[in-house]
Amino acid sequence: MSRSYRIAVIPGDGIGVEVVPEGLRVLRRTAELYGFTVETEQFDFASAAYYQAHGEMLPPDWHETLVGFDAIFFGAVGWPEVVPDHVSLWGSLLKFRREFDQYVNLRPVRLLHGVVSPLRDRTPEEVDFYVVRENTEGEYSSIGGRIFEGTDRETVLQETVMTRIGVDRVLRYAFELARQREKKHLTWATKSNGISISMPYWDERAETMAGQYPEIRADKYHIDILTANFVLHPDLFDVVVASNLFGDILSDLGPACAGTIGIAPSANINPERTFPSLFEPVHGSAPDIAGRGIANPIGQIWSAAMMLDHLGEHAAGEAIVAAIEDILVDGSVAKTPDLGGSATTGQLGTAIAERLQAP
Ligand code: NAI
Ligand code: MG
Repeated sequence: MSRSYRIAVIPGDGIGVEVVPEGLRVLRRTAELYGFTVETEQFDFASAAYYQAHGEMLPPDWHETLVGFDAIFFGAVGWPEVVPDHVSLWGSLLKFRREFDQYVNLRPVRLLHGVVSPLRDRTPEEVDFYVVRENTEGEYSSIGGRIFEGTDRETVLQETVMTRIGVDRVLRYAFELARQREKKHLTWATKSNGISISMPYWDERAETMAGQYPEIRADKYHIDILTANFVLHPDLFDVVVASNLFGDILSDLGPACAGTIGIAPSANINPERTFPSLFEPVHGSAPDIAGRGIANPIGQIWSAAMMLDHLGEHAAGEAIVAAIEDILVDGSVAKTPDLGGSATTGQLGTAIAERLQAP
């Protein structure tokens, strides 16, 4: 039977609109070479233009519209001149993550050959790990409020929510990922010295889970020293799992240690596959460079590789990452300005598509 995948494409705002076509170019070429088909449908919601026209980020039937797709290929959302960032984010991406129960946010941190790391003297062998971020609860809850506003008793509360189901399932995903890797090492982020109720609970669940995986070396670091170690000793890590807030910070810091933010990919995964998972670059809409055709498309293209891996097309996903690496080390191929070159988004995307190796 021929393999066929239905992909919902949402470019969003700013450079999202510029890099998504390059991701699709590489995706289509990979499909030709590896013998599967991708059927795409593009949507204009989750963008500032849609908000201007409709007064909201998504149509009321977005859930039914998207739920039947095999995956969502997303660019970036946000245009603060038109819509405040908390409105664009809560009104679109965070809805997808929550209502499609994409409770794992997965980001590879890999220093690719051909990329200069801001960490002096580090080699690709030393910077190769994953950050697994809890993506649906924790510190990012909407439970709380303000009372006595505008008075000197003004009071603001926002609660952290940790559920046993929510904590255990993301820990399980991380332990399973660690089990598949050579080093079989898992680190969990905590702050149980300062946050004295929820973080000791997180530690307790992690210790219980570690007991079920005797083959995995598990350790924990407080988030403060953990961030320092990402910079000082990135070679210490293999799989790092963290709550929503800590994971958010680590999953930007990690890719930054591996070079430019323009390269980093991410996946928002619903491991049970009840709902589509969403694949997007780490970067945002970059209003400062949008519209100039100079955005680096690699984060979007690498996200396509993660999407194919999730869909079971592992060889095709690996071929994309190999083509990216090949192009990065090839001095005769021009790169985008963030990598010190003068290529356009389209030129770099085309070069990667042409470099793909058939199986
Ligand atoms: P950003 O990631 O858009 O930009 C940060 C810096 O990195 C800018 O100087 C930008 O030019 C550069 N940059 C980002 N991607 C690049 C690429 N592919 N090639 C070359 N340079 C690149 O983050 P910022 O400025 O904090 O946010 C801008 C907007 O994006 C905001 O509205 C924010 O809410 C939104 N955003 C959306 C995200 C998403 O859709 N997942 C994630 C992060 C931010
Ligand atoms: Mg972030």
